[in-house]
Amino acid sequence: MGKVGLDLETPQLPQSISSNIPYIGHVLGYVRGGHSYFSSLCTRTSLPVFTIRMAKVRMSLVKPELTRDLPKVRHLSLGPLVLQIFRRSLELGEFSCSLLKEDDELSRKFAREVSRLFREEFIPNRNLRKYVEEIDGYVHHADFGNVHRMAIEGGQKIFIEAWIFKTLVSGLGKSLWGGDNGPFGDPEFVTHLRTFLMNMKRLNAPFDFMIDNKLLTSRRFVRERLEKFSFEEYVDKCVSGNTDAVEESFLGRVRALCLTHGAAVEGWTDYQLLLIAGLGPNVTAASTWMFHHLLADPELLVKVRKELDEFVKESEGSVDVADMSEACPLLLATWYEVLRFHGGFSLGRYVHEDTTLASKYLLKKGSYALAPLRPHHFDRQVWGPAAADFLPGRFLKEDGSLDEIQRRKLRVYGVFGTLCPGRYLAVHMAMALTVRLLLAFDMTPLNGSHTLPHESKDTVAGLATPAFDVEVAMRKRDNICQGVKIRFKSSRQAF
Ligand code: HEM
Repeated sequence: MGKVGLDLETPQLPQSISSNIPYIGHVLGYVRGGHSYFSSLCTRTSLPVFTIRMAKVRMSLVKPELTRDLPKVRHLSLGPLVLQIFRRSLELGEFSCSLLKEDDELSRKFAREVSRLFREEFIPNRNLRKYVEEIDGYVHHADFGNVHRMAIEGGQKIFIEAWIFKTLVSGLGKSLWGGDNGPFGDPEFVTHLRTFLMNMKRLNAPFDFMIDNKLLTSRRFVRERLEKFSFEEYVDKCVSGNTDAVEESFLGRVRALCLTHGAAVEGWTDYQLLLIAGLGPNVTAASTWMFHHLLADPELLVKVRKELDEFVKESEGSVDVADMSEACPLLLATWYEVLRFHGGFSLGRYVHEDTTLASKYLLKKGSYALAPLRPHHFDRQVWGPAAADFLPGRFLKEDGSLDEIQRRKLRVYGVFGTLCPGRYLAVHMAMALTVRLLLAFDMTPLNGSHTLPHESKDTVAGLATPAFDVEVAMRKRDNICQGVKIRFKSSRQAF
Protein backbone atom coordinates (compact mmCIF):
# COMPACT_ATOMS: atom_id res chain seq x y z
CA MET A 1 0.00 0.00 0.00
CA GLY A 2 2.81 2.35 1.09
CA LYS A 3 4.66 1.51 -2.12
CA VAL A 4 1.69 2.50 -4.31
CA GLY A 5 1.48 5.84 -2.46
CA LEU A 6 5.16 6.44 -3.09
CA ASP A 7 4.83 5.65 -6.83
CA LEU A 8 1.98 8.08 -7.21
CA GLU A 9 3.82 10.86 -5.44
CA THR A 10 7.33 10.39 -6.79
CA PRO A 11 7.75 12.02 -10.18
CA GLN A 12 8.56 9.45 -12.84
CA LEU A 13 10.85 9.75 -15.82
CA PRO A 14 8.69 10.02 -18.94
CA GLN A 15 8.63 6.75 -20.86
CA SER A 16 11.26 6.48 -23.54
CA ILE A 17 10.34 5.93 -27.18
CA SER A 18 13.09 4.27 -29.15
CA SER A 19 13.61 4.36 -32.89
CA ASN A 20 14.19 1.47 -35.29
CA ILE A 21 17.81 2.50 -35.74
CA PRO A 22 19.54 2.82 -32.36
CA TYR A 23 21.25 6.10 -31.40
CA ILE A 24 20.71 7.96 -34.68
CA GLY A 25 17.17 6.88 -35.70
CA HIS A 26 15.49 10.00 -34.30
CA VAL A 27 18.25 12.19 -35.73
CA LEU A 28 17.56 10.77 -39.19
CA GLY A 29 13.83 11.24 -38.66
CA TYR A 30 14.40 14.90 -37.88
CA VAL A 31 16.79 15.40 -40.79
CA ARG A 32 14.20 13.96 -43.19
CA GLY A 33 11.02 15.37 -41.69
CA GLY A 34 12.07 18.52 -39.87
CA HIS A 35 9.76 19.55 -37.04
CA SER A 36 6.90 17.45 -38.42
CA TYR A 37 8.89 14.39 -37.29
CA PHE A 38 8.32 15.43 -33.66
CA SER A 39 4.60 15.95 -34.32
CA SER A 40 4.32 12.55 -35.96
CA LEU A 41 5.93 10.93 -32.89
CA CYS A 42 3.30 12.68 -30.75
CA THR A 43 0.45 11.28 -32.82
CA ARG A 44 1.89 7.76 -32.59
CA THR A 45 1.61 7.55 -28.81
CA SER A 46 -1.08 8.17 -26.25
CA LEU A 47 1.50 9.19 -23.63
CA PRO A 48 1.15 12.89 -22.67
CA VAL A 49 4.92 13.23 -22.40
CA PHE A 50 7.71 10.91 -23.59
CA THR A 51 11.45 10.92 -23.98
CA ILE A 52 13.58 10.41 -27.07
CA ARG A 53 17.32 10.38 -27.55
CA MET A 54 18.88 12.15 -30.46
CA ALA A 55 22.52 11.05 -30.39
CA LYS A 56 23.76 12.48 -27.07
CA VAL A 57 20.76 14.73 -26.49
CA ARG A 58 17.81 13.60 -24.38
CA MET A 59 14.50 15.34 -25.05
CA SER A 60 11.13 15.13 -23.37
CA LEU A 61 8.38 15.79 -25.87
CA VAL A 62 5.38 17.42 -24.23
CA LYS A 63 1.98 16.98 -25.86
CA PRO A 64 -0.80 19.63 -25.86
CA GLU A 65 -2.62 18.17 -22.84
CA LEU A 66 0.36 19.20 -20.68
CA THR A 67 1.40 22.50 -22.28
CA ARG A 68 -0.67 24.44 -19.76
CA ASP A 69 1.68 23.14 -17.08
CA LEU A 70 4.85 24.32 -18.84
CA PRO A 71 4.91 27.91 -17.47
CA LYS A 72 4.99 26.45 -13.96
CA VAL A 73 8.06 24.27 -14.55
CA ARG A 74 11.17 25.60 -12.82
CA HIS A 75 14.84 25.49 -13.86
CA LEU A 76 14.26 25.91 -17.57
CA SER A 77 16.10 28.27 -19.89
CA LEU A 78 16.15 29.17 -23.56
CA GLY A 79 19.82 30.08 -24.13
CA PRO A 80 21.31 26.56 -24.27
CA LEU A 81 18.68 25.50 -26.82
CA VAL A 82 19.45 28.56 -28.94
CA LEU A 83 23.08 27.49 -28.69
CA GLN A 84 22.27 23.94 -29.91
CA ILE A 85 20.34 25.32 -32.88
CA PHE A 86 22.63 28.15 -33.94
CA ARG A 87 26.16 27.43 -32.66
CA ARG A 88 27.51 25.95 -35.90
CA SER A 89 25.22 27.65 -38.42
CA LEU A 90 26.02 31.15 -37.13
CA GLU A 91 29.62 30.20 -36.27
CA LEU A 92 29.22 31.48 -32.71
CA GLY A 93 32.39 32.24 -30.82
CA GLU A 94 33.49 31.41 -27.32
CA PHE A 95 31.94 34.43 -25.63
CA SER A 96 28.43 33.91 -27.01
CA CYS A 97 28.59 30.22 -26.26
CA SER A 98 29.45 30.79 -22.61
CA LEU A 99 26.75 33.45 -22.33
CA LEU A 100 24.08 31.25 -23.93
CA LYS A 101 24.93 28.24 -21.78
CA GLU A 102 23.46 30.18 -18.86
CA ASP A 103 25.30 28.07 -16.33
CA ASP A 104 26.14 30.89 -13.95
CA GLU A 105 24.10 33.63 -12.32
CA LEU A 106 25.71 36.40 -14.42
CA SER A 107 24.65 34.91 -17.76
CA ARG A 108 21.18 34.08 -16.44
CA LYS A 109 20.87 37.69 -15.35
CA PHE A 110 21.92 38.77 -18.84
CA ALA A 111 19.14 36.62 -20.35
CA ARG A 112 16.54 38.17 -18.05
CA GLU A 113 17.74 41.71 -18.69
CA VAL A 114 17.87 41.36 -22.44
CA SER A 115 14.32 39.92 -22.40
CA ARG A 116 13.21 42.92 -20.41
CA LEU A 117 14.83 45.25 -22.96
CA PHE A 118 12.94 43.50 -25.80
CA ARG A 119 9.63 43.80 -23.99
CA GLU A 120 10.18 47.45 -23.14
CA GLU A 121 11.16 48.20 -26.72
CA PHE A 122 8.58 46.33 -28.79
CA ILE A 123 5.44 46.24 -26.65
CA PRO A 124 4.54 49.88 -25.77
CA ASN A 125 2.32 51.66 -28.28
CA ARG A 126 4.52 54.71 -28.64
CA ASN A 127 7.41 52.52 -29.83
CA LEU A 128 5.18 50.40 -32.04
CA ARG A 129 3.95 53.58 -33.69
CA LYS A 130 7.51 54.66 -34.39
CA TYR A 131 8.49 51.26 -35.83
CA VAL A 132 5.36 50.71 -37.91
CA GLU A 133 5.57 54.15 -39.53
CA GLU A 134 9.32 54.06 -39.99
CA ILE A 135 9.37 50.55 -41.50
CA ASP A 136 6.50 51.47 -43.80
CA GLY A 137 8.47 54.53 -44.89
CA TYR A 138 11.42 52.35 -45.92
CA VAL A 139 9.18 49.78 -47.57
CA HIS A 140 7.21 52.37 -49.47
CA HIS A 141 10.05 54.49 -50.73
CA ALA A 142 12.69 51.92 -51.52
CA ASP A 143 11.01 48.71 -52.60
CA PHE A 144 7.63 49.87 -53.80
CA GLY A 145 9.19 52.71 -55.75
CA ASN A 146 11.18 50.23 -57.84
CA VAL A 147 8.33 47.81 -58.47
CA HIS A 148 5.99 50.71 -59.26
CA ARG A 149 8.28 52.14 -61.91
CA MET A 150 8.82 48.79 -63.57
CA ALA A 151 5.14 47.84 -63.38
CA ILE A 152 4.22 51.07 -65.13
CA GLU A 153 6.96 50.61 -67.69
CA GLY A 154 5.46 47.39 -68.97
CA GLY A 155 5.07 44.74 -66.36
CA GLN A 156 7.21 43.48 -63.55
CA LYS A 157 7.70 39.99 -62.23
CA ILE A 158 8.74 39.18 -58.69
CA PHE A 159 9.50 36.02 -56.74
CA ILE A 160 7.12 36.31 -53.80
CA GLU A 161 9.27 35.02 -50.96
CA ALA A 162 12.48 36.73 -52.09
CA TRP A 163 10.69 40.03 -52.53
CA ILE A 164 8.85 39.91 -49.20
CA PHE A 165 12.05 38.92 -47.40
CA LYS A 166 13.95 41.77 -48.99
CA THR A 167 11.18 44.27 -48.27
CA LEU A 168 10.35 43.38 -44.67
CA VAL A 169 13.81 42.44 -43.45
CA SER A 170 15.36 45.55 -45.03
CA GLY A 171 12.65 47.73 -43.47
CA LEU A 172 13.01 46.23 -39.99
CA GLY A 173 16.81 46.09 -40.31
CA LYS A 174 17.14 49.70 -41.43
CA SER A 175 14.96 50.85 -38.62
CA LEU A 176 17.23 49.11 -36.05
CA TRP A 177 20.63 49.22 -37.76
CA GLY A 178 21.32 52.81 -38.83
CA GLY A 179 18.78 53.44 -41.62
CA ASP A 180 19.79 53.62 -45.29
CA ASN A 181 23.46 54.04 -44.33
CA GLY A 182 23.56 50.91 -42.19
CA PRO A 183 24.15 47.36 -43.47
CA PHE A 184 20.49 46.83 -44.40
CA GLY A 185 20.68 49.79 -46.79
CA ASP A 186 22.93 47.66 -49.01
CA PRO A 187 20.94 45.23 -51.21
CA GLU A 188 23.99 42.94 -51.46
CA PHE A 189 24.00 42.53 -47.67
CA VAL A 190 20.30 41.60 -47.68
CA THR A 191 20.79 39.09 -50.50
CA HIS A 192 23.65 37.38 -48.64
CA LEU A 193 21.63 37.47 -45.42
CA ARG A 194 18.74 35.69 -47.13
CA THR A 195 21.00 33.00 -48.60
CA PHE A 196 22.52 32.50 -45.20
CA LEU A 197 19.29 32.44 -43.16
CA MET A 198 17.46 30.18 -45.62
CA ASN A 199 20.20 27.56 -45.32
CA MET A 200 20.71 27.24 -41.60
CA LYS A 201 20.25 23.48 -41.66
CA ARG A 202 22.99 23.07 -44.28
CA LEU A 203 25.26 25.43 -42.37
CA ASN A 204 24.81 23.17 -39.37
CA ALA A 205 26.94 20.42 -40.97
CA PRO A 206 29.73 19.29 -38.61
CA PHE A 207 32.61 20.34 -40.93
CA ASP A 208 33.03 23.32 -43.24
CA PHE A 209 34.13 21.10 -46.16
CA MET A 210 30.60 19.62 -46.16
CA ILE A 211 29.07 23.07 -46.77
CA ASP A 212 28.59 24.74 -50.15
CA ASN A 213 31.12 27.54 -50.56
CA LYS A 214 28.39 29.94 -51.59
CA LEU A 215 26.81 29.65 -48.14
CA LEU A 216 30.10 30.16 -46.33
CA THR A 217 30.76 33.25 -48.47
CA SER A 218 27.35 34.68 -47.60
CA ARG A 219 27.87 34.07 -43.91
CA ARG A 220 31.32 35.70 -44.04
CA PHE A 221 29.95 38.69 -45.95
CA VAL A 222 27.20 39.28 -43.39
CA ARG A 223 29.53 38.93 -40.40
CA GLU A 224 32.13 41.26 -41.90
CA ARG A 225 29.57 43.89 -42.79
CA LEU A 226 28.14 43.88 -39.26
CA GLU A 227 31.64 44.19 -37.81
CA LYS A 228 32.44 47.06 -40.17
CA PHE A 229 29.19 48.80 -39.23
CA SER A 230 29.95 48.55 -35.49
CA PHE A 231 33.46 49.87 -36.09
CA GLU A 232 32.28 52.80 -38.24
CA GLU A 233 29.63 53.69 -35.69
CA TYR A 234 32.32 53.67 -33.01
CA VAL A 235 34.61 55.92 -35.09
CA ASP A 236 31.75 58.34 -35.90
CA LYS A 237 30.94 58.49 -32.24
CA CYS A 238 34.54 59.33 -31.32
CA VAL A 239 34.88 61.94 -34.07
CA SER A 240 31.59 63.70 -33.38
CA GLY A 241 31.74 63.27 -29.63
CA ASN A 242 28.03 62.47 -29.81
CA THR A 243 27.89 59.27 -27.80
CA ASP A 244 24.33 59.72 -26.58
CA ALA A 245 22.48 59.07 -29.85
CA VAL A 246 24.12 55.67 -30.40
CA GLU A 247 23.98 54.57 -26.79
CA GLU A 248 20.34 55.52 -26.36
CA SER A 249 19.22 53.56 -29.41
CA PHE A 250 17.73 50.12 -28.80
CA LEU A 251 20.73 48.41 -30.38
CA GLY A 252 23.06 50.60 -28.33
CA ARG A 253 21.38 49.42 -25.16
CA VAL A 254 21.60 45.76 -26.17
CA ARG A 255 25.27 46.26 -26.99
CA ALA A 256 25.91 47.98 -23.66
CA LEU A 257 24.36 44.96 -21.95
CA CYS A 258 26.61 42.62 -23.94
CA LEU A 259 29.67 44.70 -23.11
CA THR A 260 28.96 44.74 -19.39
CA HIS A 261 28.90 40.95 -19.65
CA GLY A 262 32.35 40.89 -21.23
CA ALA A 263 31.64 40.75 -25.00
CA ALA A 264 34.52 41.27 -27.40
CA VAL A 265 33.85 42.53 -30.96
CA GLU A 266 33.10 39.00 -32.26
CA GLY A 267 30.72 38.52 -29.34
CA TRP A 268 28.73 41.56 -30.36
CA THR A 269 28.61 40.40 -33.99
CA ASP A 270 27.37 36.99 -32.82
CA TYR A 271 24.68 38.62 -30.76
CA GLN A 272 23.52 40.79 -33.65
CA LEU A 273 23.30 37.68 -35.83
CA LEU A 274 21.21 35.93 -33.21
CA LEU A 275 18.92 38.94 -33.09
CA ILE A 276 18.54 39.05 -36.87
CA ALA A 277 17.89 35.30 -37.01
CA GLY A 278 15.19 35.75 -34.35
CA LEU A 279 13.52 38.92 -35.63
CA GLY A 280 13.18 38.54 -39.38
CA PRO A 281 12.38 35.03 -40.62
CA ASN A 282 9.06 34.43 -38.82
CA VAL A 283 7.33 37.58 -39.98
CA THR A 284 8.67 37.07 -43.51
CA ALA A 285 7.51 33.46 -43.65
CA ALA A 286 4.04 34.31 -42.29
CA SER A 287 3.57 37.22 -44.72
CA THR A 288 4.75 35.09 -47.64
CA TRP A 289 2.30 32.32 -46.78
CA MET A 290 -0.49 34.88 -46.54
CA PHE A 291 0.12 35.99 -50.12
CA HIS A 292 0.42 32.40 -51.32
CA HIS A 293 -2.97 31.57 -49.82
CA LEU A 294 -4.59 34.73 -51.19
CA LEU A 295 -3.29 33.96 -54.66
CA ALA A 296 -4.29 30.31 -54.45
CA ASP A 297 -7.86 31.23 -53.53
CA PRO A 298 -9.17 33.95 -55.92
CA GLU A 299 -12.52 34.12 -54.11
CA LEU A 300 -10.77 34.88 -50.81
CA LEU A 301 -8.61 37.47 -52.52
CA VAL A 302 -11.63 39.27 -53.99
CA LYS A 303 -13.33 39.41 -50.58
CA VAL A 304 -10.20 40.60 -48.78
CA ARG A 305 -9.56 43.25 -51.43
CA LYS A 306 -13.13 44.49 -51.16
CA GLU A 307 -12.95 45.05 -47.40
CA LEU A 308 -9.57 46.68 -47.79
CA ASP A 309 -10.67 49.01 -50.59
CA GLU A 310 -13.67 50.12 -48.52
CA PHE A 311 -11.52 50.69 -45.45
CA VAL A 312 -9.01 52.76 -47.39
CA LYS A 313 -11.75 54.82 -49.04
CA GLU A 314 -13.22 55.64 -45.64
CA SER A 315 -9.79 56.42 -44.19
CA GLU A 316 -9.40 59.45 -46.44
CA GLY A 317 -5.78 58.87 -47.32
CA SER A 318 -4.51 57.92 -43.87
CA VAL A 319 -4.85 54.26 -42.94
CA ASP A 320 -4.57 53.35 -39.25
CA VAL A 321 -3.37 49.75 -39.20
CA ALA A 322 -4.53 49.41 -35.59
CA ASP A 323 -8.13 49.68 -36.88
CA MET A 324 -7.76 46.81 -39.29
CA SER A 325 -8.99 44.08 -36.97
CA GLU A 326 -12.39 45.78 -37.05
CA ALA A 327 -12.34 47.07 -40.61
CA CYS A 328 -10.73 44.08 -42.35
CA PRO A 329 -11.61 41.03 -40.22
CA LEU A 330 -11.22 38.55 -43.07
CA LEU A 331 -7.67 39.72 -43.77
CA LEU A 332 -6.77 39.38 -40.09
CA ALA A 333 -8.50 35.99 -39.99
CA THR A 334 -6.31 34.94 -42.92
CA TRP A 335 -3.20 36.03 -40.99
CA TYR A 336 -4.25 33.98 -37.95
CA GLU A 337 -5.10 30.99 -40.08
CA VAL A 338 -1.61 31.21 -41.60
CA LEU A 339 -0.11 31.17 -38.10
CA ARG A 340 -2.21 28.16 -37.16
CA PHE A 341 -1.76 26.23 -40.38
CA HIS A 342 1.98 26.81 -40.74
CA GLY A 343 2.73 27.03 -37.02
CA GLY A 344 3.96 23.46 -36.90
CA PHE A 345 7.34 24.14 -35.31
CA SER A 346 8.42 23.19 -31.80
CA LEU A 347 9.31 25.36 -28.84
CA GLY A 348 11.74 24.23 -26.21
CA ARG A 349 13.87 24.82 -23.16
CA TYR A 350 16.98 23.38 -21.56
CA VAL A 351 16.59 21.75 -18.12
CA HIS A 352 19.21 23.17 -15.70
CA GLU A 353 18.30 21.12 -12.63
CA ASP A 354 16.13 18.07 -12.08
CA THR A 355 12.60 19.39 -12.09
CA THR A 356 8.99 18.24 -12.40
CA LEU A 357 6.23 18.71 -14.93
CA ALA A 358 2.63 18.66 -13.71
CA SER A 359 3.99 17.30 -10.37
CA LYS A 360 4.14 13.89 -12.02
CA TYR A 361 6.98 13.73 -14.50
CA LEU A 362 10.65 14.10 -13.82
CA LEU A 363 12.63 16.20 -16.27
CA LYS A 364 16.30 15.41 -15.83
CA LYS A 365 19.05 17.97 -15.55
CA GLY A 366 20.89 18.30 -18.88
CA SER A 367 17.89 17.27 -21.01
CA TYR A 368 15.57 19.41 -23.14
CA ALA A 369 11.80 19.89 -22.96
CA LEU A 370 10.24 20.23 -26.37
CA ALA A 371 6.65 21.19 -27.19
CA PRO A 372 5.70 20.52 -30.83
CA LEU A 373 2.91 22.92 -31.81
CA ARG A 374 1.33 21.03 -34.71
CA PRO A 375 -0.55 18.51 -32.53
CA HIS A 376 -2.38 21.46 -30.94
CA HIS A 377 -2.81 23.54 -34.11
CA PHE A 378 -4.30 20.55 -35.96
CA ASP A 379 -6.32 19.11 -33.08
CA ARG A 380 -9.87 18.42 -34.28
CA GLN A 381 -11.23 18.74 -30.76
CA VAL A 382 -9.89 22.30 -30.61
CA TRP A 383 -10.47 23.45 -34.20
CA GLY A 384 -13.29 21.23 -35.39
CA PRO A 385 -13.46 18.41 -37.95
CA ALA A 386 -11.87 20.50 -40.74
CA ALA A 387 -8.73 21.20 -38.68
CA ALA A 388 -6.50 20.02 -41.54
CA ASP A 389 -7.99 22.53 -44.02
CA PHE A 390 -6.98 26.14 -44.54
CA LEU A 391 -10.13 28.06 -43.54
CA PRO A 392 -9.70 31.69 -42.39
CA GLY A 393 -13.43 31.76 -41.55
CA ARG A 394 -12.74 29.75 -38.39
CA PHE A 395 -11.41 32.99 -36.84
CA LEU A 396 -14.66 34.87 -37.56
CA LYS A 397 -17.90 34.97 -35.61
CA GLU A 398 -21.23 34.55 -37.32
CA ASP A 399 -21.59 38.32 -37.74
CA GLY A 400 -18.27 38.42 -39.62
CA SER A 401 -16.24 40.07 -36.84
CA LEU A 402 -13.03 38.56 -35.48
CA ASP A 403 -13.42 35.82 -32.93
CA GLU A 404 -11.10 36.64 -30.04
CA ILE A 405 -11.71 33.29 -28.37
CA GLN A 406 -10.42 31.45 -31.43
CA ARG A 407 -7.41 33.75 -31.69
CA ARG A 408 -6.42 33.02 -28.11
CA LYS A 409 -6.10 29.34 -28.94
CA LEU A 410 -3.02 30.03 -31.07
CA ARG A 411 0.29 29.03 -29.51
CA VAL A 412 2.79 30.37 -32.04
CA TYR A 413 4.12 33.07 -29.74
CA GLY A 414 5.18 30.87 -26.86
CA VAL A 415 4.08 28.17 -24.42
CA PHE A 416 6.67 28.43 -21.66
CA GLY A 417 5.18 31.45 -19.92
CA THR A 418 6.96 34.14 -21.93
CA LEU A 419 5.57 35.37 -25.23
CA CYS A 420 7.35 36.80 -28.27
CA PRO A 421 7.84 40.53 -27.62
CA GLY A 422 7.61 41.26 -31.37
CA ARG A 423 4.09 39.82 -31.79
CA TYR A 424 2.36 43.20 -32.12
CA LEU A 425 4.99 44.62 -34.42
CA ALA A 426 4.80 41.46 -36.58
CA VAL A 427 1.09 41.75 -37.31
CA HIS A 428 1.24 45.50 -37.95
CA MET A 429 4.22 45.14 -40.29
CA ALA A 430 2.40 42.41 -42.18
CA MET A 431 -0.80 44.45 -42.39
CA ALA A 432 1.00 47.57 -43.60
CA LEU A 433 2.74 45.54 -46.30
CA THR A 434 -0.54 43.95 -47.35
CA VAL A 435 -2.26 47.32 -47.63
CA ARG A 436 0.57 48.58 -49.83
CA LEU A 437 0.72 45.49 -52.03
CA LEU A 438 -2.98 44.88 -52.51
CA LEU A 439 -3.78 48.53 -53.13
CA ALA A 440 -1.09 49.11 -55.67
CA PHE A 441 -0.94 45.88 -57.66
CA ASP A 442 -2.82 43.04 -59.19
CA MET A 443 -0.63 40.00 -58.68
CA THR A 444 -1.24 37.26 -61.17
CA PRO A 445 0.35 33.81 -61.25
CA LEU A 446 2.45 33.41 -64.38
CA ASN A 447 0.85 30.16 -65.54
CA GLY A 448 -2.74 31.20 -64.81
CA SER A 449 -3.22 29.30 -61.57
CA HIS A 450 -1.23 29.50 -58.40
CA THR A 451 0.59 26.47 -57.02
CA LEU A 452 0.72 26.51 -53.26
CA PRO A 453 4.21 25.32 -52.25
CA HIS A 454 4.59 22.70 -49.55
CA GLU A 455 6.55 23.51 -46.40
CA SER A 456 10.32 23.24 -46.41
CA LYS A 457 11.66 20.58 -44.04
CA ASP A 458 14.83 22.59 -43.57
CA THR A 459 13.57 25.42 -41.37
CA VAL A 460 15.36 25.06 -38.02
CA ALA A 461 13.30 27.43 -35.89
CA GLY A 462 9.95 29.15 -36.27
CA LEU A 463 7.44 29.00 -39.09
CA ALA A 464 8.48 26.76 -41.97
CA THR A 465 9.27 28.64 -45.15
CA PRO A 466 7.71 27.60 -48.49
CA ALA A 467 9.76 24.82 -50.11
CA PHE A 468 10.06 26.78 -53.35
CA ASP A 469 9.53 30.35 -54.47
CA VAL A 470 6.85 31.35 -56.97
CA GLU A 471 7.10 34.06 -59.59
CA VAL A 472 4.11 36.36 -60.14
CA ALA A 473 3.38 39.25 -62.50
CA MET A 474 2.68 42.63 -60.93
CA ARG A 475 0.33 44.95 -62.78
CA LYS A 476 -0.28 48.43 -61.48
CA ARG A 477 -3.91 48.96 -60.37
CA ASP A 478 -5.87 52.03 -61.39
CA ASN A 479 -7.03 53.03 -57.99
CA ILE A 480 -8.07 55.94 -55.93
CA CYS A 481 -5.53 55.38 -53.25
CA GLN A 482 -2.35 56.94 -54.52
CA GLY A 483 -0.19 58.41 -51.80
CA VAL A 484 -2.02 56.72 -48.95
CA LYS A 485 -0.33 57.14 -45.57
CA ILE A 486 0.10 54.30 -43.10
CA ARG A 487 -0.39 55.27 -39.48
CA PHE A 488 -0.56 53.58 -36.13
CA LYS A 489 -2.64 55.86 -33.99
CA SER A 490 -4.71 53.70 -31.75
CA SER A 491 -3.94 53.44 -28.06
CA ARG A 492 -5.40 49.94 -28.02
CA GLN A 493 -3.39 46.82 -28.59
CA ALA A 494 -6.15 45.03 -30.35
CA PHE A 495 -4.29 42.22 -32.08
C1 HEM B 1 4.75 35.97 -36.96
C2 HEM B 1 5.87 36.42 -36.51
C3 HEM B 1 6.57 35.94 -35.25
C4 HEM B 1 6.42 34.76 -34.56
C5 HEM B 1 5.50 33.57 -34.88
C6 HEM B 1 7.33 34.81 -33.43
C7 HEM B 1 7.48 33.81 -32.48
C8 HEM B 1 8.38 33.85 -31.45
C9 HEM B 1 8.56 32.80 -30.49
C10 HEM B 1 7.80 31.48 -30.47
C11 HEM B 1 9.51 33.19 -29.60
C12 HEM B 1 10.06 32.39 -28.43
C13 HEM B 1 9.17 32.57 -27.25
C14 HEM B 1 9.58 31.68 -26.12
O1 HEM B 1 9.83 30.49 -26.31
O2 HEM B 1 9.61 32.19 -24.99
C15 HEM B 1 9.96 34.50 -30.02
C16 HEM B 1 10.94 35.23 -29.38
C17 HEM B 1 11.34 36.49 -29.77
N1 HEM B 1 10.81 37.24 -30.80
FE1 HEM B 1 9.36 36.68 -32.07
N2 HEM B 1 8.01 36.00 -33.47
C18 HEM B 1 7.57 36.72 -34.56
C19 HEM B 1 7.99 37.98 -34.95
C20 HEM B 1 8.89 38.75 -34.28
C21 HEM B 1 9.28 40.10 -34.67
C22 HEM B 1 8.77 40.87 -35.88
C23 HEM B 1 10.18 40.52 -33.77
C24 HEM B 1 10.84 41.87 -33.78
C25 HEM B 1 10.74 42.73 -32.90
C26 HEM B 1 10.38 39.44 -32.79
C27 HEM B 1 11.22 39.50 -31.70
C28 HEM B 1 11.46 38.44 -30.84
C29 HEM B 1 12.47 38.48 -29.78
C30 HEM B 1 13.42 39.64 -29.49
C31 HEM B 1 12.40 37.26 -29.11
C32 HEM B 1 13.26 36.79 -27.94
C33 HEM B 1 12.56 37.09 -26.65
C34 HEM B 1 13.38 36.80 -25.42
O3 HEM B 1 14.47 36.23 -25.49
O4 HEM B 1 12.89 37.15 -24.34
N3 HEM B 1 9.56 38.40 -33.14
N4 HEM B 1 9.24 34.89 -31.12
